Order: sequence, then structure tokens, then C-alpha cells
Amino acid sequence: MSNYLIKEITARETWAVRHPVLRTGRPLETCAMEGDDHPDTIHLGLFDTANLIGVASFMKAAKPQFTGSQYQLRGMGILAAYQGKNLGVLLINAGEQKLRRLDTDVLWCNARIKALNFYLRNDFIVEGDSFEIESVGTHYLLYKTL
Ligand SMILES: CC(C)(COP(=O)(O)OP(=O)(O)OC[C@H]1O[C@@H](n2cnc3c(N)ncnc32)[C@H](O)[C@@H]1OP(=O)(O)O)[C@@H](O)C(=O)NCCC(=O)NCCS
Repeated sequence: MSNYLIKEITARETWAVRHPVLRTGRPLETCAMEGDDHPDTIHLGLFDTANLIGVASFMKAAKPQFTGSQYQLRGMGILAAYQGKNLGVLLINAGEQKLRRLDTDVLWCNARIKALNFYLRNDFIVEGDSFEIESVGTHYLLYKTL
């Protein structure tokens, strides 16, 4: 039986999942994100026993569309062999639990169209119209009140 565990990891450790899943075929350094090393940033890793299989990063960032204390969910990815098994929600839930303890009001993210259903299923709400992010494609701004 699989034994899944979520732990805080470093920005650099997320690259093992960010690279194949979110930066496929691009140089390893493209995995770095602004805010990765900020003291408020939280990186979570999902482990199947000892193997890192999923990552999510939570960065303090505010959008004018929302009010109160806000965090952005970034770099959400599950290794291909583990996708579609309802594991991504484990990272979202663990992050939300930590953010609530930090008195965060809103969690938001820019979601790729192909991940839109995943976020909607996990109670995020669409804000505004779709928009383009260069070389990544069409996105939606989504949020959730914590
Ligand atoms: C988006 C992602 C984080 C969701 O995590 P997950 O644990 O796979 O989520 P779920 O199991 O709840 O659902 C994944 C979706 O893949 C579908 N799926 C089913 N079997 C699958 C398989 N073998 N492989 C991939 N996806 C599969 C599910 O039906 C579901 O589709 P839907 O959301 O359109 O309804 C993950 O799939 C992923 O890393 N995708 C690639 C990177 C990405 O797009 N990240 C988000 C950036 S905004």
C-alpha cells in the first residue's frame, strides 16, 4: 500500500518535479521562480515513501482584485505517473492548513487551462476573463477564501 507524506522542502528540491512537469524540455534553471527564497515562502513536497512525487509553493503576493492577507499558489505539479490519482488535493489541503494558521484570507493562483477543472473541483473560483502568459498559454485567475 502506498504511504503518502507531506513535508516542507527547499526551493531547490522542488526542481525535481517542476522540471519534468512544468518546464518540460527547457533548461533546468528555468525552474527557478522569483520569490522562491523569500522567508515567507512555503514549499511543500508530497512523498510516496521516500520519493518526491509532487510539489506546491505558496508565496506571499497580493492581487488588487482581492482583499486581506493573500498568498499565491505557484509551481503546482505531480509527476506524470502519479497524476489523476487525486493526490494534488493533498498538497492544496496541507498548504491551506498552514496558511490559515498564518491568518491568510485568500489563496489565489494563475491556472493553466488544462488544470482548470482540478482547481474548480477543489473549490477555487474564477475571477475575470482568461489571459495569455507568454510561452505557457491561456490562464485563468482563480481564488479561494480561507
Ligand atoms: C494539475 C495537477 C497538479 C492535478 O493533480 P492530480 O493529483 O493529477 O489531480 P486529480 O487526480 O485530482 O485530477 C487530474 C486530472 O487528470 C485526469 N487524469 C485521469 N487520469 C490521468 C492520468 N493517468 N494522467 C493524467 N491525468 C489523468 C483526471 O481526470 C483529472 O482531470 P480533470 O481535472 O480535467 O477533471 C497534475 O495533474 C499536474 O501536475 N499536471 C501537470 C502540471 C500542471 O498543469 N500543473 C498546474 C499548473 S497551473
